[in-house]
Amino acid sequence: MDILIVGSGGREHAIAASAAKSRRVNKIYCAPGNAGIAQIAECVPVGAMEFDALAAFAKEKKIDFTIIGMDDPLVGGITDVFKAEGLKVFGPDKKAAVLEGSKAFSKDLMKKYNIPTAAYETFDDPQDALAYLKTADMPVVLKADGLALGKGVLICHTQAEAEAGVKTIMEDKKFGAAGNRMVVEEFLTGREVSVLSFADGKTIRIMSSAQDHKRAEDGDLGPNTGGMGTFSPSPFYTAQVDEFCRKYIYQPTLDAMAAEGRPFTGVIFFGLMLTENGPKVLEYNARFGDPEAQVVLPRMKNDIIDVMEACVEGRLEEMELEFEDQAAVCVVLASDGYPVSYEKGFAISGLEAFEGKEDYACFHAGTALKDGQIVTNGGRVLGVTAKGSDLKQARSKAYEAVQWVSFENKYMRHDIGKAIDDAADET
Ligand code: AMP
Ligand code: GLY
Repeated sequence: MDILIVGSGGREHAIAASAAKSRRVNKIYCAPGNAGIAQIAECVPVGAMEFDALAAFAKEKKIDFTIIGMDDPLVGGITDVFKAEGLKVFGPDKKAAVLEGSKAFSKDLMKKYNIPTAAYETFDDPQDALAYLKTADMPVVLKADGLALGKGVLICHTQAEAEAGVKTIMEDKKFGAAGNRMVVEEFLTGREVSVLSFADGKTIRIMSSAQDHKRAEDGDLGPNTGGMGTFSPSPFYTAQVDEFCRKYIYQPTLDAMAAEGRPFTGVIFFGLMLTENGPKVLEYNARFGDPEAQVVLPRMKNDIIDVMEACVEGRLEEMELEFEDQAAVCVVLASDGYPVSYEKGFAISGLEAFEGKEDYACFHAGTALKDGQIVTNGGRVLGVTAKGSDLKQARSKAYEAVQWVSFENKYMRHDIGKAIDDAADET
């Protein structure tokens, strides 16, 4: 079959790489794609938010299956447009994607259906938020209601910081309309883990766990980013945690969405905090994580198209997911200054070193082709992934491979997967 992938990041490159391995895929198109994706797919210069143009392209090329990688088009209703045109598409429709698109919606859902999460209040008026914060315990977490590239969350340690945060989100509108409403949440402590799943509206299948590193700098310092690196599986995601989450979080979430008349088909990403009082949901996303996809998908043994098609056709119950025993680590190579401000357009060299090496992959995030040369074109530039017999080996291989690539202003964290050592110490 011929498929179309919508998006342009490392996640979409990882999806394309998995699809390229599918025995069922003939040709892959990607809109708009990037310079790395262009090596395995035909990139089409149509933006991810141009729903009508994308659907027209899919019809013209007789695309058999479309995969939506990104959150913005999903929340904006791209799936509905494709479905209305009779096209087969993987990803939640607009009314289900609200699970990610509105934090107020997801918090209310969890409260109504007793899904463990941090205590919270929602505000439409900054004055009400300020009045509430005067008596709130610190630290406190402020979240813009809508999509904000993973950056609309402020952790405030003092009253003054919280007041400034309300101004940033609700008055200065730093995250745009996402800040018309705001959720104020109890601060949770513990280990974070990302769990991705496939869902067909009724049945949910859990993928192998992963851990992200959201902060820009080593030691979990600096501002929040889209993610600076990941590893999979997480040693902190034990069988006991898994059992709890299956019973109280995963299926209950899917059932809650169905009960609300919003059956969810696609990928549900559970952002969890493993607290002293058990796992709690920090957030839901309605798509693969980025860079979680870069460590989870390379370990998945199933044909990704078989699984996605089963979701779309409501047959996921027939499927069991299988993952390699090998571990994977992904280190993001970013442009120095990300996520605040950075330069683009620098030549990237050394990429050919990854060719023919089974245990390694270099997923492109922000890259472009300029006069025949691959150049940097974003904050997160590349995701260097290595697989190994265990996390420690995967990590040392990933940190060896990051040296193969060069570009001006190359920046990375040096402690991706350092938590693995803590896990070893605890046992
Ligand atoms: P979110 O986009 O909601 O996942 O938030 C981004 C990051 O902020 C999370 O990955 C956590 O590191 C942190 N965070 C979010 N909510 C909380 C919370 N209630 N307590 C502590 N940290 C949080
Ligand atoms: N890495 C976190 C996310 O994709 O939202």
